[in-house]
Amino acid sequence: MAENGLEETARQLVASGKGILAADESDGTIKKRFDTIGVESTEETRRAYRDLLFTTPGMEEHISGVILFDETIRQSSTDGTAFPKLLEGKGVIPGIKVDKGAKPLALAEGETITEGLDGLRERLAEYRDLGARFAKWRATYSISADKPSEYCVWTNAHALARYAALCQEANIVPIVEPEVLMDGTHTIERAHHVTSRVLYALFTELFDQRVDVAGSLLKPNMVLSGYDASTRAGIDEVAEWSLKCYYKHVPAAVPGIVFLSGGQSDEDATAHLNAMNAKGPHPWQLSFSYGRALQAAAIKAWGGKPENVEAAQRAYYHRAKMNSAARTGMYSPELEREAVAV
Ligand code: 13P
Repeated sequence: MAENGLEETARQLVASGKGILAADESDGTIKKRFDTIGVESTEETRRAYRDLLFTTPGMEEHISGVILFDETIRQSSTDGTAFPKLLEGKGVIPGIKVDKGAKPLALAEGETITEGLDGLRERLAEYRDLGARFAKWRATYSISADKPSEYCVWTNAHALARYAALCQEANIVPIVEPEVLMDGTHTIERAHHVTSRVLYALFTELFDQRVDVAGSLLKPNMVLSGYDASTRAGIDEVAEWSLKCYYKHVPAAVPGIVFLSGGQSDEDATAHLNAMNAKGPHPWQLSFSYGRALQAAAIKAWGGKPENVEAAQRAYYHRAKMNSAARTGMYSPELEREAVAV
């Protein structure tokens, strides 16, 4: 592939000590988050909340890029600066979620296929003009005794690869996100097996569809025991099983693996990333692209009140800093307490 800057952008997104903020909640998801703090979700409350995150002093020390939602990439900070411009000004790369969500997969009870390919070429061109330099597409897979089916695994892999090829054609770095959901009672061995099948199909399709994986990032789940499993694997075991899976299925040409947090507690998401990096060096950068695990404390501290903006920014900055420490295996619970005291 001709030199087009994709690999360079992908590498900047996983620059040392930095990770990605996923602030691309769809209207339905952000409403759910706001419901927990009793705030009505309106265009203005969503703008004010994202403004709080993006104007956090020093966030650029730990954050390399932000994934935006369609509405957000068109919005502006209180001083009138468009969000993509505000982020670029801090050296933070703007990105965009381009999938249209996981919909029921036909003839496959309880399984989903992610939609959004129709018209994607034109949408990517517009997002590029609005300042996006990378994109995200998320597919989801549930684990049960007979799920996910091969049908679900391969149709989602095919769609992820079609999205990734269109992104590279538009000079946008694709983040490919196959998320095996960790709800359920499954063992960590089962999570390892399913995640392996999903990654195998994904990279087969990416290569078949001519995607240059050096100009992409992988955003997978960590390999965990089901959230309702009777015994749950500890931090070191999670790191071992997760690494075993990626070593077998993720090509070394991929610049970085940027994890989703997927409903883990804030501190678990940090500790798991830290444990994996402590076992490095690895062929790829291991970083974060967290939504909930970077924002949960900030949303709570904010509560929709202007007088709480600074407290919310401190909470967000704190989590970004802890995850930055986890990039080098230097995170510890003591560090957590020290930083809170500041
Ligand atoms: P969570 O970290 O909350 O799982 O969100 C990451 C994300 O971007 C999901 O698509």
